[in-house]
Amino acid sequence: MWRDSDSDSSDNTVYHNQGTSCLSCHKAPATGAEGYSFLSGGTIYTELNATTAAQYATGYTIRALLDTNLSINYISGRGYGNSRSQDTALSNDYNFTAQVVNSSGVVVNSSATNSHSTASNLDCNVCHTAAGANGAPGRIHIATPVVTSGTPL
Ligand code: HEC
Ligand code: HEC
Repeated sequence: MWRDSDSDSSDNTVYHNQGTSCLSCHKAPATGAEGYSFLSGGTIYTELNATTAAQYATGYTIRALLDTNLSINYISGRGYGNSRSQDTALSNDYNFTAQVVNSSGVVVNSSATNSHSTASNLDCNVCHTAAGANGAPGRIHIATPVVTSGTPL
């Protein structure tokens, strides 16, 4: 079971605040940047400890697999490697597995099962810094080989 967070309104300029707290500017409701708010967002990199723009992972997006088995597919943009969602399911209280998917929807990295929650883990980049904060190992990134659960390689 899955659904898209909204219609695709991505605008992939190269740079848009990658690696910083999206919700510090876009927090719902109303007072978001230029009136544009969403519920969750983050940046995907090619490497765990990435520090440069060359390491933004284009063509990948975030998916939140809720503990109800509903998948929330984020929308890419704005900016390479960024994705975000305004799916209203995220405003309810769930645990979820945080995933990275490629453009075919194949999971290429994942948190531990249901280790993230809508109450605490929607502003991805707050913890997924280059060095990692609050126990996160580093950036949200694409892992090789593909993993579908547990600690990424
Ligand atoms: C420092 C404040 C700030 C941060 C942090 C920020 N944004 Fe933005 N964002 C803006 C502003 C201001 C606009 C509207 C002006 C513009 O078009 O650039 C905008 C516009 C957008 C848009 C386009 C909205 C539309 O109407 O199509 C998207 C999508 C977006 N941001 C996503 C993100 C994501 C994802 C993150 C986190 C990686 C993020 N933003 C971080 C300030 C910010
Ligand atoms: C409050 C801090 C925090 C926030 C916010 C957070 N995470 Fe995590 N994340 C963690 C911790 C701690 C781990 C390591 C344990 C695990 O795998 O669950 C982790 C692990 C991961 C992993 C596997 C390791 C990796 O990065 O390769 C992915 C993928 C991930 N998170 C994605 C996300 C996404 C997507 C979001 C936003 C929807 C997010 N996280 C928000 C703390 C956080």
